[in-house]
Amino acid sequence: MASFRFGNIPATFSPYLLLLCFLQLSTPHLSLSQGAGAEDIHDLLPKLGLPRGLIPGNVKSYEVSPLGYFSINLSNPCYVQFHRLVHFDTQIRGKIISYGLVTDLSGILVKELFVWIPLAGINRAAANGSGDGDDTVEFQVGVFTETYPANKFEAVPPCLTTEPSVWANFGLDSII
Ligand SMILES: *[C@@H]1O[C@H](CO)[C@@H](O)[C@H](O)[C@H]1NC(C)=O
Ligand SMILES: *[C@@H]1O[C@H](CO)[C@@H](O)[C@H](O)[C@H]1NC(C)=O
Repeated sequence: MASFRFGNIPATFSPYLLLLCFLQLSTPHLSLSQGAGAEDIHDLLPKLGLPRGLIPGNVKSYEVSPLGYFSINLSNPCYVQFHRLVHFDTQIRGKIISYGLVTDLSGILVKELFVWIPLAGINRAAANGSGDGDDTVEFQVGVFTETYPANKFEAVPPCLTTEPSVWANFGLDSII
């Protein structure tokens, strides 16, 4: 278990801030529906420092406020089999603090053996700065921090409408 590093908020100018400035100039409150000509959220994620496959493909709409608060509506709740089994509610909320750093998440649960634990935050930049230079993503799951290579989250994952058999999540750590 690694230490909790989400408190280290870089105050430097970043592509993320550039993007937020741009969003702020173009509209005070960005509200987008997928399929209505808006940018696919999976294409937006890399501009925010996040891998495009963190969110399943059934996104109905999303919005990002100028302060970085976002909400994402899915067409239905779903299970995604990452390294862990993950459950997405129909609405996911959170705050983008800076490039690659998301806090205050709600609507995402991670199954640790037999217990569902809320995913609280995602941190890509800090993993870069403190590690050996590998491109990794840190997930804050309850009090635990789990780190995986970012390239495991490049493909947009399929959305499963029912929970896969418990055996799919038991002892198969090589599944991603
Ligand atoms: C998501 O759904 C909720 C509840 O139906 C709604 O209030 C909210 O406006 C929706 N958000 C977006 C971005 O469409
Ligand atoms: C993390 O480091 C990798 C390799 O050095 C780099 O390719 C990637 O862009 C970095 N990611 C962020 C968010 O800085």
